Amino acid sequence: MKIVVIGGTGHIGTYLIPRLIAGGHEVVNVSRGARAPYQTHPAWKSVQMVISDRRGEEEGGSFGQRIADLKADVVIDLICFTLDSAQHLVEALRGSVQTFIHCGTIWVHGHSTVVPADESLPRNPFGEYGVQKAAIEAYLLDEARRKGFPAAILHPGHIVGEGWMPVNPAGNRSPEVFQKLARGETLCLPNLGLETLHHIHADDIAAACLNVLANRSAAIGENFHIVSPAALTLRGFAEAVAGWFGQNARLTFLPWEMWRDTVTPEDAEATWDHIAHSPNASIAKARRLIGYEPRYTSLQAVQQSVEWLIRNGELEI
Ligand SMILES: NC(=O)c1ccc[n+]([C@@H]2O[C@H](COP(=O)([O-])OP(=O)(O)OC[C@H]3O[C@@H](n4cnc5c(N)ncnc54)[C@H](OP(=O)(O)O)[C@@H]3O)[C@@H](O)[C@H]2O)c1
Repeated sequence: MKIVVIGGTGHIGTYLIPRLIAGGHEVVNVSRGARAPYQTHPAWKSVQMVISDRRGEEEGGSFGQRIADLKADVVIDLICFTLDSAQHLVEALRGSVQTFIHCGTIWVHGHSTVVPADESLPRNPFGEYGVQKAAIEAYLLDEARRKGFPAAILHPGHIVGEGWMPVNPAGNRSPEVFQKLARGETLCLPNLGLETLHHIHADDIAAACLNVLANRSAAIGENFHIVSPAALTLRGFAEAVAGWFGQNARLTFLPWEMWRDTVTPEDAEATWDHIAHSPNASIAKARRLIGYEPRYTSLQAVQQSVEWLIRNGELEI
C-alpha cells in the first residue's frame, strides 16, 4: 500500500517508517525537513520525503489537498493537535483513503477515575492539549461511525525510546532524578509517591499502527490505549531505577505545595501535568480487537533509554 506518514521523523516515526518499509509498503514522509530521525536506518533511502510546514499550509488552506494529492491508501497523522486541523484533513481525504490513523494521547481522559481506565470512560480533559485531543477523538469517532470516514485512533502514554530523556520517577525530564537514584542519593518525591505514570516504547506504538492495518475492519471507528502492560507509581519507579544501579532508593516525601519549590518551575510544571493526570490505562481493548501486544514493560522501555543516554554521554552517572 502507499502510506503517507505526517510527522514521521520524530519519536514514533523513527521506529514506524522502517517497519512500514519492511512490510513492503511505499512510504511518504511529510515534515518540514528540520530534523532527522533519532536513529539512522537503511529504510529511509526508500522513503519519499515531502517537505511541508503543516501549520503554514493549513492557514493557507492547502495542506489537506497537498496530502490528498499524494493519493495514499493509508494516512497516518502523527502530529494533529487541534480540532480545526483534524477537520481540515478529513474534509480533504474523505472518500480517498482506505485507512486513516490518528495519533492521540491518554491525556484525553484528564484525571483518572476508574483504573485501569478503559476507552469508554467519560472524558475529563484539562489543559489546551488534552482538551483539543479529546475534541479530535470525539470528532473522528463520529465521522467514522456516522459517515464512514475510515479513522482509527491510537492513544499513546509517555513515549520512550533510544535517543531522548524519558519521563523520570519525579514525573519530569530532569536528568538529576536518574543521577540521584543511581548514586544512592536522597530523592524527594511529591506527596506519597503513589501517583502514576504510564509509559510506552515508541516501537510499540509503531507496531500498533501495523496492528491497525492488519485488523482494519476491527479498528475503524475505534480508539485504543497504546501503553505498556502496566502503569508505575512514582515510588515504585524510583525504587526500580535505584535497583538498576545496585542502590536502595533513599526517598523522602513532601506535600505538593512544598515539593514544587524544591525544583525548577519548568520541572514543577511537568511533574504537575503528569501527576494531575496520573494515567493508568487498560490495553485490554487493543489486545482483543487488533492483537496489540507490547514488547516492553514501562521499566524495560525506560531502562533501554537510560542505558542509551549513559552510553552516548548524554546522562552522566
Ligand atoms: N511525547 C509524548 O510522550 C506523547 C505522549 C502521548 C501522545 N503523544 C502524541 O504523539 C504525537 C507526536 O509524535 P512524536 O512524539 O513521534 O513526534 P515528535 O517526535 O515531536 O516529531 C514531530 C514530527 O513532526 C514533524 N513536524 C513538526 N512540526 C511540523 C509542522 N509544522 N509541519 C510538518 N511537520 C512537522 C517533525 O519534523 P520537522 O521538525 O522536520 O518538521 C517530526 O517529523 C502527537 O500526536 C502527540 O500528541 C506524544
